[in-house]
Amino acid sequence: MSEEILKVEDLNVNIEEKSILHNVSLSINKGETHVIMGPNGAGKSTLGHSIMGNPKFEIISGKIVFKGENITEESVDKRALSGLYLSFQNPLEVPGISLSNFIKLAVEQKTGERLKLLSFRKGMDKTLNALGMDASYANRDLNVGFSGGEKKKSEICQLMELKPELAILDEADSGLDVDASRIVSDAVREYKDKNNGTLLIITHSTRILQSLEVDKVHIMVGGRIVDSGDASMIEKINNEGFESYTSETVEGKA
Ligand SMILES: Nc1ncnc2c1ncn2[C@@H]1O[C@H](COP(=O)(O)OP(=O)(O)O)[C@@H](O)[C@H]1O
Ligand SMILES: [Mg+2]
Repeated sequence: MSEEILKVEDLNVNIEEKSILHNVSLSINKGETHVIMGPNGAGKSTLGHSIMGNPKFEIISGKIVFKGENITEESVDKRALSGLYLSFQNPLEVPGISLSNFIKLAVEQKTGERLKLLSFRKGMDKTLNALGMDASYANRDLNVGFSGGEKKKSEICQLMELKPELAILDEADSGLDVDASRIVSDAVREYKDKNNGTLLIITHSTRILQSLEVDKVHIMVGGRIVDSGDASMIEKINNEGFESYTSETVEGKA
């Protein structure tokens, strides 16, 4: 029996009084992998931030239900504690806290249990190793001075350690070379398989999908989901781009 884990209903979102998302609806069952594709500026990141509860994104109407609870008004912290995770398109540099301490604190907050430092570090070293990163990155300040690719891997390291129930990955492979994309795709697959994780993957490239089975694809244009379908849509988009979803079509569906 499929169990709905996330439901977005008729969401309208403003940024600084400008209307960005228009009546966006989405339903994801536990364990599924959904992909959102769309041209630059379509509103994909806005949707990710809105689901995660970033207060800069003002929800004008509609609702977000996670695990049966209406979380539309909940804080980012509460959403994170209840099992949501968003990897940022542009990860922030945070001086003063190491990658390792940041993750340890987040895991402890989520589980309510103190972790033994040694065994935590052992696990984290293994995760960094799987991501092709030296264990010394654990001691460095969060993302500070990391290259673009290392920042992306740092986000995936957090995903693997935090084991959220639903992960939204926003352009997690952008800027990665072919090998790094494969490593990240494999890591996301491992997270999913080990935790029965649910994925909402925002991407305009498709290399991150290479190790994953995609259940559903949504096309977002102009702040609207203009089409949804199965994994075969990915190849179609790769071949044809978003041209068939012209502004005319979009307006027609408005
Ligand atoms: N912080 C912001 N302030 C003002 N406008 C923003 C902000 N973030 C996004 N926008 C605008 O919202 C629209 C959607 O952006 P975004 O969600 O980042 O698109 P995508 O991720 O699909 O490329 C764009 O027109 C963008 O300029
Ligand atoms: Mg974006």
